[in-house]
Amino acid sequence: MTLFENVPDRKGTRSVKWDLVHSLYGSEDVLPMWVADMDFPTPNAVTEALVSRAEHGVFGYTYTDTALHKTISNWVQDRHNWQIKPSWLIYSPGVVTTLHIAVQALTNVDDGILIQTPVYPPFYDLVSSHDRKLVTNPLKLVNNRYEIDFEDFEAKLKQGVKVFILCNPHNPVGRVWSKPELAKMAALCKKHDVTIFSDEIHADLIFDGNFHIPIASLSDEINEQTITCMSPTKTFNLAGLQASYAVIADKNIREKINDFLKKQGLTMLNTMGITALDAAYQHGKPWLEKLLSVLETNKQLVIDAFKDRQEISIVPPEGTYLLWMDCRKLGLTHDDLKNFMQEKAKVGLNDGKSFGEEGEGFMRMNIACPTVTVKEGIKRILTAINS
Ligand SMILES: Cc1ncc(COP(=O)(O)O)c(C=O)c1O
Repeated sequence: MTLFENVPDRKGTRSVKWDLVHSLYGSEDVLPMWVADMDFPTPNAVTEALVSRAEHGVFGYTYTDTALHKTISNWVQDRHNWQIKPSWLIYSPGVVTTLHIAVQALTNVDDGILIQTPVYPPFYDLVSSHDRKLVTNPLKLVNNRYEIDFEDFEAKLKQGVKVFILCNPHNPVGRVWSKPELAKMAALCKKHDVTIFSDEIHADLIFDGNFHIPIASLSDEINEQTITCMSPTKTFNLAGLQASYAVIADKNIREKINDFLKKQGLTMLNTMGITALDAAYQHGKPWLEKLLSVLETNKQLVIDAFKDRQEISIVPPEGTYLLWMDCRKLGLTHDDLKNFMQEKAKVGLNDGKSFGEEGEGFMRMNIACPTVTVKEGIKRILTAINS
């Protein structure tokens, strides 16, 4: 496992996670376990493809061809058992970009957009920055696992909601929504004529015993009213290369999105992003299997470390490499909790409240780092609690 143990020093690489530690956490000795990228190098095959492309030395305009469409559809079929048509694909630099474009292309000012909170913070910006109406369906924490309040879900859909942004697997609560849950959400969206934007960026990062199901794969009808955003960037640690795609079966929706992308001048991906996407999906599978076993180890370590502790309990994730930590029993105000993690434990976590008010008393930990780093993070938190 040296591949996932001896990782390069990321300091001095303009790394958001490592080089912004001081400005965000006020001290250089805080261990960064926050923003959702990994400390692991991407598969060798991806690096080799990038080096080879770099050695070519000419970086002119590059297009996404049928071979790339095929590579993507093979990946989606192989990993998610969903047969997509190459013509359904559109490309964009990132999932957040696609979501912003989709909100603008398919909704109007004051239209309701439903999200399930606590959730990935940019979902809130998607609503507020375009003057849409925020409608929330808070998730319920039942026996340390999050569930959907379907009664509330339907009641909220009736409040002028045009779009439901699904996060599956869910960041930060780690749920991989089951087939019955997805079918129920889909049926309600169909009943109330609500378009689904399904953010499935974490779809390949699934823990043992769980299965990711793209909501659009449930039926042709659901497929026709869904935009599915996917990307190799979380799976293969390529976020800095900015290459993602969306699967949109409905021609009318696809044309509206494509028109909007064109109006922003977003008609092409960058050369290196395309190269990495192609190589990752063609050759990255064995690496991904190893990654998943490291993440499984790391996840279990954290869960076990806090199993017998009163103060913090970990919400066991079914997918993603993000752990949602319930710190409410520490008995601190939220600001004191943040200070405790940053100043006493010296661990840089994501503030639970940035995911919505339901995140009060919670923190999010990124475990996509060497196991020794996870152990160090645990040690720092336990030492701070004990003292
Ligand atoms: C749910 C979710 N969607 C989207 C993104 C970011 O996607 P991108 O970098 O492709 O915009 C993240 C990153 O953490 C995420 O967790």
